[in-house]
Amino acid sequence: MNTTTPWTGGGPSRSPFATPSGMPGRLAGRLMLWMNRQQDLLDLLDVQEGERVLEVGYGPGGMIRLLQRTSAGRICGVDPSPEMRDLATRPHRAEIAAGRIDLRLGTADRSGFPDAEFDRVVSVNNVAIWPDLEGGLRELRRVTRPGGRVVIAWHGGTRPSWIARGLALTEEQLSRIDRGLRGLFSDATRHKLATLTVFSAVR
Ligand SMILES: C[S@@+](CC[C@H](N)C(=O)[O-])C[C@H]1O[C@@H](n2cnc3c(N)ncnc32)[C@H](O)[C@@H]1O
Repeated sequence: MNTTTPWTGGGPSRSPFATPSGMPGRLAGRLMLWMNRQQDLLDLLDVQEGERVLEVGYGPGGMIRLLQRTSAGRICGVDPSPEMRDLATRPHRAEIAAGRIDLRLGTADRSGFPDAEFDRVVSVNNVAIWPDLEGGLRELRRVTRPGGRVVIAWHGGTRPSWIARGLALTEEQLSRIDRGLRGLFSDATRHKLATLTVFSAVR
């Protein structure tokens, strides 16, 4: 089983939600698709016609499905889990073949995409399990075009589910994300959606 040691501490995570692999990972993926409603985050991301969007940690692909219905020109993603790549790519065979959707194996700190490739970069419910927060933020900046927006969301918000309440980050951890973003981006803000705490910044 794959493991990862998150910057938030607590030792290597063997949770199938953090490192989805094998049958438990596939089941966790199905559960995430069912539970994670992310329309309000998509509204905040405000994708414009023809824009190029990267999702970091796409998991089973809930946000990719929402992005697919926007007028984005290109939708790319990185996630280290081959099981999640299988799940997330399944509904999009035609658009993958056509080059509009491109879901790869990769991580927040090693996306493999060129500099300044994206207008929008989004990460949902994975920032707390990156092994290297600052390395991930540097990589997100590298692949965002000047003037482009980065949006990072984690469980929390104004009406967190019982699961989200247990996963919420401490104020110290949230402040470390704030500081990391302010050091690399402009207009860094933090706000709360219904079930997500969201950081937004402009390169
Ligand atoms: C809890 S799931 C969230 C998936 C999806 N974003 C959602 O909200 O439904 C976390 C995902 O982050 C991925 N992940 C783990 N480590 C990562 C890293 N270093 N960089 C990017 N993604 C990572 C996992 O493979 C998993 O698919």
